[in-house]
Amino acid sequence: MPSLANKKIVLGISGGIAAYKSAELVRALVQEGAHVQVVMTNAAQQFITPVTMQALSGNPVFTNQWDQRIANNMAHIELSRAADAILIAPASADLMAKLSLGLADDLLSTLCLARDCPLLIAPAMNLQMWSHAATQRSLKRLQSDGVAVLGPASGDQACGEVGMGRMLEPEEICEQLIAFFQPQVLRNKRVLITAGPTFEAIDPVRGITNLSSGKMGFALAKAALEAGAYVHLIAGPCNLPTPLLSTGRITRTNVTSGAEMHRATLASANCDVFFAVAAVADWTIANRAKQKIKRQEKTGLDLEFRSNPDILLDMAKLAKRKSKPYCVGFAAETDRLGKHAKEKRIKKGIPMIVGNIGPATFGLDTNEIIVADEKGIKNLGKGNKLELARKLIAQVAARLP
Ligand code: C5P
Repeated sequence: MPSLANKKIVLGISGGIAAYKSAELVRALVQEGAHVQVVMTNAAQQFITPVTMQALSGNPVFTNQWDQRIANNMAHIELSRAADAILIAPASADLMAKLSLGLADDLLSTLCLARDCPLLIAPAMNLQMWSHAATQRSLKRLQSDGVAVLGPASGDQACGEVGMGRMLEPEEICEQLIAFFQPQVLRNKRVLITAGPTFEAIDPVRGITNLSSGKMGFALAKAALEAGAYVHLIAGPCNLPTPLLSTGRITRTNVTSGAEMHRATLASANCDVFFAVAAVADWTIANRAKQKIKRQEKTGLDLEFRSNPDILLDMAKLAKRKSKPYCVGFAAETDRLGKHAKEKRIKKGIPMIVGNIGPATFGLDTNEIIVADEKGIKNLGKGNKLELARKLIAQVAARLP
């Protein structure tokens, strides 16, 4: 099911050059299943037309508080009562100032004042306007009034200057809105995740790795962020973007070998929950060559292997002593998922293990998982990795002290 299915969103657009990106935002919201009602200020219509917004949202756009289309002539009440959330992107400095003072002199500001649903704003303006004491005052007031502020980001600006004040990209705004609707079951918890494969070098150009894509671990990082956690992601070699970077609640360490992943994980062991999702190589090469090994026609190559440290096992031992992270392991099995998962949970000395049918699901966007804890086995079913990750986060959150 799309992440915004059945959600009614009023998308407010105020006057700023970033308004051209609102067209992409409407598309992203609609693609996620949302019903989007666009409301534009006069200034917004200088940058982009209501015709574009109507075509993309599939709904007539409102621009005027005296709009005759609403039977009782109270567009501000009708529109805000029907909404699950009001999202304003871009939110100009002028609009932020108005909202922070409770002014209501056009349709968008009036419906924000009349609302009984959450308000999210994505500010966009020149860097001097953003850093101006008046705007920062508006920002603080809006935050203390419970308004969720998405961004802004830093970077190139339409005016040619570089700095803070760029609107987040439409995709990021859409992802943050989705996150806003998820249950905040891990609010302020510190979550540590290992993800992806490891790469064990044979020489400077060759090595041994595995087929793990990192998708399940990254989906879990996203689901934990959506649930309000601070996440530290330790990723083996994989080309996946860091999820929900714009929340400012995720840090990432890239590692290559199992030994590096072990070091990085133990250095960040002070956390509430640890998910060991990485497919860590069981062995590393003991006789690794410093120079590239030359191909020899007649002889093969003798490699010596040494066991890699077991990260999960060491974290579980740690959990018994001091900072006590709740440790969750993963078991990719080709058969008898439940039996193997149960046995592995006990062997590793951890409270929960997630069984999935690997390696068939490596690289796919879907998976099928079960959860084993001391009470038994629960089937979380098949589905998209992000949906399964959300279900898993709910299971773990329910077991935390
Ligand atoms: O023992 P096995 O490799 O089957 O266990 C899989 C679980 O252990 C996964 O959670 C994996 O991330 C973790 N693991 C680890 N360090 C290793 C090997 C596996 O953390 N060296």
